[in-house]
Amino acid sequence: MKLPNLEKAKIRNEKEVEYIDATIKKDVSLFRGKKYFLKTYGCQMNVHDSELIKNLLEGIGFLESDKMEGSDIVVLNTCAIRENAHDKVFGFLGRAKHEKSINPNLIICICGCMAQEPSVCEEILSCHKLPNLLMNKINKTDIEVESIEGNVVENLEYIRDSKISAWVNIMYGCDKFCTYCIVPYTRGKQRSRKSEKILEEVEKLKRENYKEITLLGQNVNAYGKDLEGELSFAELLEKVSDIGIERVRFVTSHPWDFTDELIDVIASKPNVMPYIHLPLQSGSSRILKLMGRRYTKEEYIKLYDKIKKKIPAASISTDIIVGFPGESEEDFRETLEVVDYCKYDSAFTFIFSPRVGTPAERLKDGTTLKEKEERLKRLNELVNKYSLLANQKYEGKIEDVLIIGPSEKGADLVCGYTETMKLVNVLGATSRVGEIVKVKITEAKSFSLNGEAIL
Ligand code: SAH
Ligand code: SF4
Ligand code: F3S
Repeated sequence: MKLPNLEKAKIRNEKEVEYIDATIKKDVSLFRGKKYFLKTYGCQMNVHDSELIKNLLEGIGFLESDKMEGSDIVVLNTCAIRENAHDKVFGFLGRAKHEKSINPNLIICICGCMAQEPSVCEEILSCHKLPNLLMNKINKTDIEVESIEGNVVENLEYIRDSKISAWVNIMYGCDKFCTYCIVPYTRGKQRSRKSEKILEEVEKLKRENYKEITLLGQNVNAYGKDLEGELSFAELLEKVSDIGIERVRFVTSHPWDFTDELIDVIASKPNVMPYIHLPLQSGSSRILKLMGRRYTKEEYIKLYDKIKKKIPAASISTDIIVGFPGESEEDFRETLEVVDYCKYDSAFTFIFSPRVGTPAERLKDGTTLKEKEERLKRLNELVNKYSLLANQKYEGKIEDVLIIGPSEKGADLVCGYTETMKLVNVLGATSRVGEIVKVKITEAKSFSLNGEAIL
């Protein structure tokens, strides 16, 4: 069996990206009556990939089951971004292994980013002896399996989780090589989809009455840079916006490629939502340099100011890593300073997790885990303070909320999102799932709002 190779995954060559059409023959009689259980970890890209996996499996006859017990195949779509993502998958594999001892025919399929890591494959093979049976089975039944590495596969079909909001890949992979990050290895080199294919997909979603789409990529504002004569991300966003779906979002944008032109498109197009996820990672220019982020604290703040000036209603969220190797108390304090300045609407915060094969794995790290946990706690306190403050500004206001489904908070409630991506639990709109409803905000919490439909 051939294991993936991190050294090879690192190489970026001039080899042309192949654009190929999906060649999946569907035949539901192949596995009719068989059941699959699919578990997804990681980012939106994995969530969207799972929609593809569902289509592949259901196209050959499998039906989805909501539990592993009694299933014929368990598919784990994995994430490798931090050690705890690993741990969760291995924890689940333990359960799957137990299930296999009861049902020896159970097929366990591991895909996604962890499956691209040689160390993980070795660990799984040696500890769990889980051969990749699914691939063999699929090959035997005359379905072509393409390795997507280095390619862009077009005309893919998905079984989308939502009829209201859809994901649209605009690019695959990442070439930024931030020194802590495993993604450029697991997802391969940056490959933009051709804009006409993206626009075709968005037009189809419009015809299918989707109310919202989110353009997806690890680094969406680098869109098109790998294709000669292709649109820039700002141009693509403008064209997507013109198709006229009510809400257009995108994730994730890197501060480095964030052009004025892009800010102008967001500011001028009412259906491009004023919500920007702008990962900071660290507030210390010294650490940012070690991270390979290509911007300084000052440049980040300048960009932030520009966005806030041109799009005053914009909500801005971020990602922050604490305890990067060599981060001093002073560096950390600079991060707190930037948080104080930007007063983020929300922030995802992480303790640095060394990833095998990345440059940061080899950096000297004098900070203890205890210190890092303490920094994370301080950071989270600050972040939560600003989340609550940002939410409190909504109290008494009337917001457009796209209702997406039932709320966990009560049977008479539904939930949805404001244009700025605030989660709202809404009273008086149970019959209006899929609509954009005017909602009066009655109460703000740190991570959600409460409101009442008024129209
Ligand atoms: N492409 C996105 C990030 C995707 S990963 C971007 O560049 O912003 C999501 C987040 O996970 C990152 O923003 C970073 O904050 C965090 N992350 C990535 N690698 C990490 C690591 N090794 N340890 C801790 N956090 C990490
Ligand atoms: Fe990772 Fe950096 Fe690429 Fe984001 S931009 S996926 S953090 S390498
Ligand atoms: Fe995880 Fe891979 Fe996404 S590592 S965050 S699933 S790109």
